[in-house]
Amino acid sequence: MALCRFKEVFTLACISLLHVINAANFPSGCAYEDYSEAIGLYTCSFTNATFPLTYADFSSPIPQRLKVYDVNGTFTSPFSGFGAISISNTAYRAYLEISCATSGIIDLDSTSFSGMTHIQELRINNCIISDLPAGVFANLNLDFLEIEGGSITTTQSNSLQSLTISKLSNVPNPVGGISFKNVEFTGGNITAGFFDPLTSVLSITLDNCGIENLETSVFAQNTAVQSINLSRNRFTTLQHIFGGLTSLTFVNISFISWDCTCTNLWFTQWLASNYITLVGSYLCNTPTGYQNSKWSQYYYTECEIYDICKGIPGVRSGLVCYTWHQLIAYFALLIALTLTIIALIIFFNVRAKMVQTQRQIESKRKRVHTKIKEALIRGKDGQKAPASTSAPSYIKMPPRGWIDPPGGVM
Ligand SMILES: *[C@@H]1O[C@H](CO)[C@@H](O)[C@H](O)[C@H]1NC(C)=O
Ligand SMILES: *[C@@H]1O[C@H](CO)[C@@H](O)[C@H](O)[C@H]1NC(C)=O
Ligand SMILES: *[C@@H]1O[C@H](CO)[C@@H](O)[C@H](O)[C@H]1NC(C)=O
Ligand SMILES: *[C@@H]1O[C@H](CO)[C@@H](O)[C@H](O)[C@H]1NC(C)=O
Ligand SMILES: *[C@@H]1O[C@H](CO)[C@@H](O)[C@H](O)[C@H]1NC(C)=O
Repeated sequence: MALCRFKEVFTLACISLLHVINAANFPSGCAYEDYSEAIGLYTCSFTNATFPLTYADFSSPIPQRLKVYDVNGTFTSPFSGFGAISISNTAYRAYLEISCATSGIIDLDSTSFSGMTHIQELRINNCIISDLPAGVFANLNLDFLEIEGGSITTTQSNSLQSLTISKLSNVPNPVGGISFKNVEFTGGNITAGFFDPLTSVLSITLDNCGIENLETSVFAQNTAVQSINLSRNRFTTLQHIFGGLTSLTFVNISFISWDCTCTNLWFTQWLASNYITLVGSYLCNTPTGYQNSKWSQYYYTECEIYDICKGIPGVRSGLVCYTWHQLIAYFALLIALTLTIIALIIFFNVRAKMVQTQRQIESKRKRVHTKIKEALIRGKDGQKAPASTSAPSYIKMPPRGWIDPPGGVM
């Protein structure tokens, strides 16, 4: 009985919990996506919802996470009353995402985000942005800002004025970063001073942004930055852009085709000697002889700066050093080899000559012997020719190896 009763209460609780989730209130043109997460996401269609969106129209839960999609047009004062929000769930960032319609434009001004100063993360996706006007993100205090896809035609030296990006302690997995990814900066330039207001940003990404040129001072004020990602851009050389960045530990410059000269590759040595990790695949585009070669191959072949022999006197050949003792050893080995070959030649020569001489002596003796034999056969006394080598048996020869000493034996 008791178990049954417990089950009933449990089921009721479940139903009322579901009801709470389903009871999310939102204006028309918006929807609530609860996924499996406690703080779901309100999504509002730019075309179907009425702007400005008003905070009071959202409840159960509060609009801690909001996405506006299908944006195409002017984005002036789109949010009202959100200043009253009190972030209830610190397991999620207070989050705003703007996504444009296919080839959609967004006209931003200083009121575009002025009603959303509570957010901790802002994303703008696939928008054609004609300008990032002065102070467009003013008074935001973000952990992460990302603009991905689309394009940015104009930037101002004060576009990011009064924007703070830093590692926030009250968000999960804090980053403290700004990221431009796959967004084309028309003209390939970033206005001087653009990044200057971000004095506490920890990571800067400009990945695949069509950047052709970075001024020397582009990151000069970002003195807290630890990680910079400049991958997949169009520049072929880099000015001295990392000076004074004492916290910098990681630089990613993948997929850049470098104009390889000893001066252009300054950063390889510079980063290493400042204990900054450099990642990426580095291929030379020019000079012609090194096209698609690794820059290191160029650098260690053509540039004298790096002492590959590590202070020991020697000779360099590409990436290999031959030190003086190695050279002496090789030289000695070479001499030994030469001498051995000469000795072998002499040996075989002498041997061949000796064999030849021996044969000549042999054939001469044979000829003499034959002549004597013939002479004896021609003679009438019928004497036999002597044997060719040994003496006649009647001649007693003293035993070999024994010679009587003069004066005889006593
Ligand atoms: C917007 O409203 C129209 C008509 O009411 C509807 O057909 C369309 O699906 C809506 N679009 C979105 C993205 O909700
Ligand atoms: C966006 O708006 C422009 C006019 O401002 C219009 O020509 C274009 O078709 C719109 N694009 C979409 C996807 O609605
Ligand atoms: C980009 O900057 C370079 C050097 O400052 C300048 O020569 C070039 O004209 C600029 N390009 C554009 C499109 O602003
Ligand atoms: C850029 O490099 C950072 C590390 O500094 C890395 O976390 C990030 O994933 C990279 N960005 C992209 C788009 O790969
Ligand atoms: C470096 O950037 C490239 C290109 O965005 C990316 O694929 C790679 O993962 C990054 N590497 C690291 C270690 O962040």
